[in-house]
Amino acid sequence: MTSQRSICLTGGAGYIGSHACLALAARGVSPLTVDDLSTGSEDAVNWGPLVGLDIRETDRLATVLKKHSVDTVLHFAASAYVGESVENPQKYYDNNVGGMLSLLNACKAANVKTFVLSSSCATYGVPERVPVTESSLQNPINPYGRTKLICEQMLHDYASQSDMAYSILRYFNVAGADPSGALTERHDPETHLIPLTLFAAAGRIPKLTLFGGDYDTSDGSCVRDYVHVSDLVHGHMLALEYLEDFGGSLIANLGSGQGVSNFEIIDMVERLTGRQVPVEIAPRRLGDPPELIADISHARQRLGFQPQRSDLGTIVADAAHSFGVEAVHAISA
Ligand SMILES: NC(=O)c1ccc[n+]([C@@H]2O[C@H](COP(=O)([O-])OP(=O)(O)OC[C@H]3O[C@@H](n4cnc5c(N)ncnc54)[C@H](O)[C@@H]3O)[C@@H](O)[C@H]2O)c1
Repeated sequence: MTSQRSICLTGGAGYIGSHACLALAARGVSPLTVDDLSTGSEDAVNWGPLVGLDIRETDRLATVLKKHSVDTVLHFAASAYVGESVENPQKYYDNNVGGMLSLLNACKAANVKTFVLSSSCATYGVPERVPVTESSLQNPINPYGRTKLICEQMLHDYASQSDMAYSILRYFNVAGADPSGALTERHDPETHLIPLTLFAAAGRIPKLTLFGGDYDTSDGSCVRDYVHVSDLVHGHMLALEYLEDFGGSLIANLGSGQGVSNFEIIDMVERLTGRQVPVEIAPRRLGDPPELIADISHARQRLGFQPQRSDLGTIVADAAHSFGVEAVHAISA
């Protein structure tokens, strides 16, 4: 990737966006972050300037993009909690769809040439079969997933009327943290399973609540595809190179291609920390599919995407390190 690029990350102060900034800096790019700090943190923006701005402010956003001669946008900014989206759909349509519309209009005004969208496996809903390929039916079952699908369609429509190259990356469960300890797997509020399991092991929360222990899976708990955040952001670097070389459009799943059950996570945390995780099994949540695993062969073939740190032991160890949770055992993959 050419380091002369002028790259803007919306949501660069968030968990994944800040890791993407770090990966860009390692390639000689000083990324511009646009973030309203609604869930992100100023102290995670260390590798380029931060403009504190809500992306729904179209005119101000277009002015910022023009001032910095931005040619490439990585769009991470969104509200990203499934449960909250069910309780407050207005917030999700407003921020995710309204934010996308505003951003696309600002990009058009600033003549942005390349766009990468953070999409989600939530756009697939309850898949008919796993592993899930990019051509699987997209039938989201909650407002969050629906907003992400609408964003995909908006991007396609805008790009088809311009010379903007774009990539839609559908993430599965992103976890872990940069191994240097420079960043953490941080969410506000914390609802993600691996951090919560580590917090329960360390006594920072009284117990871990698991939703459903009677699924038709090997051990009764849900199975998900966890991809290490460092592998995920590397996938973005590959997508940028692909768009630079070939232009056009690219849609790819980014996951590990492996399924991991909730009980396997608990077991891994217990082995790593040497402590028991107090667990409460609660009823299933409506619309939680038993299994969600990515078919990543498309990303492998088109991008050369090859996860390096997405085995469960490495993900949990890197997350524990970033939280300062002591690991008493080294875990091999
Ligand atoms: N974490 C996952 O497992 C996962 C999985 C699939 C997709 N995604 C997607 O990846 C992206 C990043 O997720 P994350 O986990 O880093 O979340 P995050 O909440 O840590 O980051 C989102 C960032 O966007 C900012 N933001 C939100 N609305 C904004 C607005 N209107 N204007 C400016 N800034 C705004 C927040 O302040 C925050 O810094 C999201 O689009 C999310 O939907 C995440």
